Parts: sequence; C-alpha cells; structure tokens
Amino acid sequence: NLRQNRRIFYGGSNALMSLEAVVRNRESLEKKSAAIRSAGPSKLQVIADFDGTLTKYTVDGRRGQTSHGLLQQGNAEYDAKRQALYDYYHPLEYSPMIPLEEKTKLMEEWWEKTHGLLVEGGLTFDAIKKSVADATIAFRDGVIELFEFLEEKDVPVLIFSAGLADIIEEVFRQKLHRSFKNIKVVSNRMVFDDNDRLISFKGKTIHVLNKNEHALDMAAPVHDNLGDPNGSVNDYSLVKNRTNVLLLGDHIGDLGMSDGVEYENRISVGFLNGNTEESFGSYREAFDVVYLNDASMWGVIELASQLC
Ligand code: TMP
Repeated sequence: NLRQNRRIFYGGSNALMSLEAVVRNRESLEKKSAAIRSAGPSKLQVIADFDGTLTKYTVDGRRGQTSHGLLQQGNAEYDAKRQALYDYYHPLEYSPMIPLEEKTKLMEEWWEKTHGLLVEGGLTFDAIKKSVADATIAFRDGVIELFEFLEEKDVPVLIFSAGLADIIEEVFRQKLHRSFKNIKVVSNRMVFDDNDRLISFKGKTIHVLNKNEHALDMAAPVHDNLGDPNGSVNDYSLVKNRTNVLLLGDHIGDLGMSDGVEYENRISVGFLNGNTEESFGSYREAFDVVYLNDASMWGVIELASQLC
C-alpha cells in the first residue's frame, strides 16, 4: 500500500523542506492505480522527460547539467556563441510576460540558431563522448532499477526531450553502461558524415514549447534508438493502444507530453526542483504526486509496482 511509505505525505504544504513526496488526492490516485493495474501491463506506457526528471537537479553540490548544457564542441568560439544565445534566450524561456505565440517563435529561433552553430562549428561524435565524460550529470538513484522493472514487465518508456537525443543516449551508455529494449528517446537527433562530423539534424525541431505537438508521430518512424529497432516500442499501434500512462516530468508543461495519447488513465508525477515555495501550489494542483528535495526514483518504483 502506498500509505506504508512514511515519507509520502497526503495533504497540506507545511515543512516542505523535510518532505519527499506529496499526493494531491489519495482516493483519486488509488482509483487510477487500481484501474491501471486491472487493465494490465500491456495497456501501460511510461512517458518521461529527461533533464531534471530522470537526472538529478544537484550533483555533488553543483547544479546538474542538461544535455545541451554539458556540450563542449571543442571549439571555444562556438561554445561562446552558444553560451551567448543561452544568456539571451533562457530568461525569455521563463518570462511570464511574453505571450505564448511570441515565445514559441523565440524558442524556435533559439533552437534553430543553436543547431546551426553546432553544425557550423564542426561538432564531432568524439566531442560528445568527451563532453559526457566530463559532465556534471547523474541519474536519480533508482532510475536503473525503474527501467529494469519496466523492461521485465514489457512496459515501453518514451523519453521525450527538447534536448539532444545523441547526447542523452551517450549519457545512457556512460552512466548506465547498458541499453534497454523498452526505451525510446524522442528528441533532436543528429546526422553525422563518415568522419563522424555533424552535418544536419533529422526531422522537425523539438523545443520546449512544441513537445506536446508531435509526441507520437515522432515516436513512430524513428529506428535509431537505444533498443531493438524491431521491438514493440517502435510499433506505433502498440504504443497508441497503451491507453494508461505514467508520466514523469519536472515542468507543468511536461504534462503536454501525453497529448498524443488518447489515454484512459494517467498518473502524473512532477519533480519540483527549483522555486519550491512559489511553485509548490501549482505543482500540487497539476500533478498527482509531487516529489521534492531532489528525491530518488524509489517512490516511483513503488508506484509503478502498484500498477503492474
Ligand atoms: P527539456 O530537457 O526540459 O526538454 O528542455 C531543454 C532545455 O535545454 C531547455 O530548458 C533550454 C535548454 N537549452 C540549453 O540549455 N541550450 C540550448 O542551446 C538550447 C537550445 C536549449
């Protein structure tokens, strides 16, 4: 029973610092859990954000890096140019003053310019490997066990990110030392030439504000992923028919990741990483379960084990 986990708190918002998890409505969560469990694992899929959701917000006292943030092109001029774009656009990403349509255009602009600089600056696959090796990035404790549990149950995991797929997959290789046949990364994917130099990006750019739009059309035709290209995760119809969703995110906007699924039941889990006091109320309203204080994945494993 979920209630047996003493660290999970049902209700109010006192003493946020000492809490690990808050459940908005216990009855509703237990009802959804029961419905998902009775439909069985063949109806379930997990949709997860990467940065700050699967990865820790703080690593050894330092702010963890994102898939974009960790990248060093091995070309100081281009690293500086990308940093200048970050300094300009990142505050706009979080500005509450800019209307959505305008912000969407700005985000498209940012992603296009950054991708352009990566190509122009001659990014190599070796630079990606080295950047990941040098990065301040770590998975939350329990992530590997969560993936193992879901793999055993044949539940697909769609990792959906506005970052860079090739870097996320390198983080998997270097930090988890294994791949999972049930995991698929849907993110911006690079095309390299025979000398392992980046020449372009595949398909439509995914940025922070259009993550919701193309979730499943993106999932369908991509074959270069961490798993088996012929495996069930690549079968759109199978993912589409999985009408129960466990969604993991760290921004309220991440709830849009399941927009492409006509789900029957969705349990949403939000990791509240920053601005805790200010954002707690809106996270508690938006997510079924909110994890605080850079929590581990053990609570999510417990939740997943209630579902299948
Ligand atoms: P996501 O990982 O939540 O999908 O979002 C990607 C983050 O990447 C977003 O917060 C902005 C950030 N970013 C950079 O740090 N550098 C960049 O060059 C770009 C385009 C995005």
